[in-house]
Amino acid sequence: MGRGFFLTFEGLDGSGKTTQMRKLAAWLEARSEQIIVTRQPGGTRIGDRIRQLLLDSRTENLAARAELGLMFSDRAQAIAEVIAPALEAGRVVLCDRYTDSTEAYQGGGRELGSEVVLKLHDVMCGGLQPDLTILLLPDFAASLTRARRRNDRMTKGGTDENRFEREDEVFYRRVYEKYREIAARDVLRVAAIESDAAIDEIHQRIVGVVEERLALR
Ligand code: TMP
Repeated sequence: MGRGFFLTFEGLDGSGKTTQMRKLAAWLEARSEQIIVTRQPGGTRIGDRIRQLLLDSRTENLAARAELGLMFSDRAQAIAEVIAPALEAGRVVLCDRYTDSTEAYQGGGRELGSEVVLKLHDVMCGGLQPDLTILLLPDFAASLTRARRRNDRMTKGGTDENRFEREDEVFYRRVYEKYREIAARDVLRVAAIESDAAIDEIHQRIVGVVEERLALR
């Protein structure tokens, strides 16, 4: 699809991906790349409503398969409205989470398995794959502590984004392991950065990978 470049960021909550995405966006802009930054779930008006439903801890009794379907509904909308048009226009699309998150969280965390996720990906996303995925895998325990601390602070005005952070360590361990499985399976697309190095050092590593891949466009 298109002539652009589709770049996704993945990792556990608290893995530092939002910070790294912001730094990479600034670096790309300094190189005069035409970029679009988006996230999932969310990134469209419909997607923002789906995001609220999915992440608000007041959402109770959401069946795992219903959660899976909502993740893909959000994604299908984002592809139609944001991602596909930007790629057609030759832009670099930076997306905070994509189908690897669904495979890790719903496939791994919720134990629905990879197969159903990959099948839905084909149907709902037309198989659209990122050109490159940066997967941040710092120390497991440190990620979890950061995510919990941050989300306690985020609670405001009766709504929050804490539904996933309430899951226990066993759930997150399954998510983490599924991410590793994806990285081992898809070595060409996924650049896994398993490091607790300083923010700037990780940024430099990401820039190294991105620069190399962009040159191949
Ligand atoms: P965020 O805080 O990085 O935007 O992530 C939102 C939460 O949604 C995060 O806990 C991971 C979860 N999630 C899934 O479970 N499946 C998905 O497909 C996506 C995109 C996110």
